[in-house]
Amino acid sequence: MIQSLLLPTHKVAVIIFLLHYVIKTFLLLINKPEALKKYTAGTKVLEMIISVLFLFTGVWLMVEKGSPSTLQIIKFTLVALSIPIAIVGFKKSNKAMAVTALLFIIGAYGLAEVNKKQQTKVDNSAMAGSEIYAKNCVSCHGEDGRKGFSGASDLSKSVLSADEAKAVISNGRNGMPAIKMEAVQLDSVTAYIQQLKK
Ligand code: HEC
Repeated sequence: MIQSLLLPTHKVAVIIFLLHYVIKTFLLLINKPEALKKYTAGTKVLEMIISVLFLFTGVWLMVEKGSPSTLQIIKFTLVALSIPIAIVGFKKSNKAMAVTALLFIIGAYGLAEVNKKQQTKVDNSAMAGSEIYAKNCVSCHGEDGRKGFSGASDLSKSVLSADEAKAVISNGRNGMPAIKMEAVQLDSVTAYIQQLKK
């Protein structure tokens, strides 16, 4: 399925894009215009492919997710701003601009990582199902399971078995992020959402 390739492709493109700009900025900062010129000429096609992949998969992921979070909007704005700054910065060999663009991209990458960690790890294994649900699920599914934020399924009408629900929680599905937790926690939160069906 194309969708399952989307996120990994995006991640790889982001990392290559980031490395590429670190190298370019580094060459600019250490005053190696010849080396920079050579590197830029040698990676022109790669840069084009990676930029297109990176932006295309990024936008696609946002569209898939439905309403983007504030964090995603900030991330997107940072990336969108970094591109013209990087183009002009390298054209004029302006170090401040090149560094600013790089910092924007790194900032966006950092935000994405922080966001992921916050969203996908349940720490306290002794938490009851209701607490796990309140902390990790209410934002999208709501207290009663019916909120439907950014396309979240109505859990009060879910026809999934406990095992199927567990699979969705552990692996994620479309706009539903994978939420990692220990087996006990998964059992209790699954039991909790089962009783939202009434
Ligand atoms: C960022 C928002 C978000 C969070 C947080 C979230 N979900 Fe979801 N959830 C979704 C979306 C969106 C879907 C629909 C996925 C789809 O369309 O394939 C979904 C679907 C599901 C389903 C499938 C229901 C069905 O009948 O198909 C289950 C079960 C589920 N979520 C449980 C949970 C549990 C339990 C938590 C907390 C541990 C949780 N979700 C946290 C957004 C979220």
